[in-house]
Amino acid sequence: MRIDIITVLPELMRSPFEASILKRAIEKDLVEIHFHNLRDYSSNNYKQIDDYQFGGGAGMVMMIEPIDKCISALREERHYQEVIYMTPDGNRFDQKIANELSLKENIIILCGHYKGVDQRVRDHFITREVSVGDFVLSGGELAANILCDAVIRLIPGVLSNETSALTDSFQDDLLAPPIYTRPADYKGWHVPEILLSGDASKIEEWRENKAVEHTQSRRPDLWKKHQGE
Ligand code: ADE
Repeated sequence: MRIDIITVLPELMRSPFEASILKRAIEKDLVEIHFHNLRDYSSNNYKQIDDYQFGGGAGMVMMIEPIDKCISALREERHYQEVIYMTPDGNRFDQKIANELSLKENIIILCGHYKGVDQRVRDHFITREVSVGDFVLSGGELAANILCDAVIRLIPGVLSNETSALTDSFQDDLLAPPIYTRPADYKGWHVPEILLSGDASKIEEWRENKAVEHTQSRRPDLWKKHQGE
């Protein structure tokens, strides 16, 4: 998979790709990340990429021309299945979208800044608009980092134990059950006896019950979705 990220702040985004699982995925050639600084596509001397909005109002708007130039240059090189715009008024990101995106070969992610982008960018270039939650970040960069992390870990071969992605919370609209490790007794706080029993089917049943309990109490919306399936 290849991800091209268009941003005014590539330096803000780099470190998650330089550590841990994402770094290993890149080293194993399972994913390629390419940053494109939008200012490099500005046509004026001041490397301007934003301007005042027509009709007046506070806040600058990202101009269409540098974005067009950058996306068009990329599209000349290869076909992209998705051009994603990170924005708080996009579709809410979830595990289903992460699963879908993990199957794509080439995607572009455009990070919004200031007030956002000229609407014509959204109308003519963007295939999918994604929000990571009902709150406003200073820009789309951290949101794009979240999306990349969630997507890349689903690519086969990225996680050393592939089944661990399958048992994540949300894969079947259920939250994960509680987990424990040694010591079995810490300051008198005991691990549930059943987990020490060695009875695999009883343990599985316990985990399923706990997953249901957690989902019902913490995320009734998700529980409804699970039952509807
Ligand atoms: N840009 C600013 N806030 C955002 C959000 N919540 N999700 C995606 N992109 C954003």
